[in-house]
Amino acid sequence: MNQEASVGRAAPLAAKSEPQVVLDGVGKSFGTAARARTEVLRDMSLEVREGEFVSLLGPSGCGKTTVLRLVDGLLAPDAGRVTVFGGDPTPGPELGFVFQSFRLIPWFTVRGNVEFALAPTGLSRAEKRERAERYIELVGLRRFAEAHPHELSGGMSQRVALARALVTEPRVLLMDEPFASIDAQTRELMQAELMRLWSSSGATVLFVTHSVDEAILLSDRIALMGPRPGRVLENIEVEGLPRPRWSYDVRSRPEFVDLRRRLWERIRQLVLEDPESDFFGRGTSREAQ
Ligand SMILES: Nc1ncnc2c1ncn2[C@@H]1O[C@H](COP(=O)(O)OP(=O)(O)OP(=O)(O)O)[C@@H](O)[C@H]1O
Ligand SMILES: [Mg+2]
Repeated sequence: MNQEASVGRAAPLAAKSEPQVVLDGVGKSFGTAARARTEVLRDMSLEVREGEFVSLLGPSGCGKTTVLRLVDGLLAPDAGRVTVFGGDPTPGPELGFVFQSFRLIPWFTVRGNVEFALAPTGLSRAEKRERAERYIELVGLRRFAEAHPHELSGGMSQRVALARALVTEPRVLLMDEPFASIDAQTRELMQAELMRLWSSSGATVLFVTHSVDEAILLSDRIALMGPRPGRVLENIEVEGLPRPRWSYDVRSRPEFVDLRRRLWERIRQLVLEDPESDFFGRGTSREAQ
């Protein structure tokens, strides 16, 4: 395990590809001098190469969502630089974002919500409809295409959000705890589906999760963040778990068990170093057992 953030030390397979998302010494604070100022990120550096799957793992409030919003161009950094595809980040169909809150449009149906993401593309009406149908089917909501968000459960809403992000077939996919509110069984199915999609699309994924197991299962590399002001403390390669990982019982492999143990040791260490830390917030403590 690397002791320091090792920007650029990507997995061997991805080593040849270009960096597609780069955060270089990024700082970000919210608030003003008059209102309480919160320094969320300090000297945050991260590099995600084309086609790489990287998970951000860190305590609640350490700035994970903020990182995704910086990459999407929804926020600007106070210090350092964020580049996507070699330039300034701009929201658009090449960047798919699955938000932590679903952000569905309440007066649109499921189909309308998914099709809406295709508005800025040059696709014809029929193509939009066909594409939306395909992704609604993929997330298992075909029978609910005409339903409105208030008629959906939390897990179903999250699946609509996922379909909406995937439907533009983005080159970079930003996912903010996309499976957090989905039941365990559907979650496993969706994880496998995401791995399939990712392997066939070649998209670059920056994935936020509180789950150590989920991070290991899905990622090429895990970027472990420390408590606020957040930054990447370590980049941990997921090694010895060949893909496709849906084709065998990954969780029972000694490499998986060993990496999980190492990660938890490191997380415990971080908690001990910072008694204020909320590392065991939401979900993680259950998995520690
Ligand atoms: N627009 C904003 N204005 C003021 N403070 C903000 C804003 N967005 C985020 N923050 C603060 O920044 C900190 C980091 O927030 P962020 O949502 O990035 O954390 P996170 O790591 O995603 O947490 P969680 O795991 O709980 O989702 C929090 O203290 C939050 O209150
Ligand atoms: Mg968040």
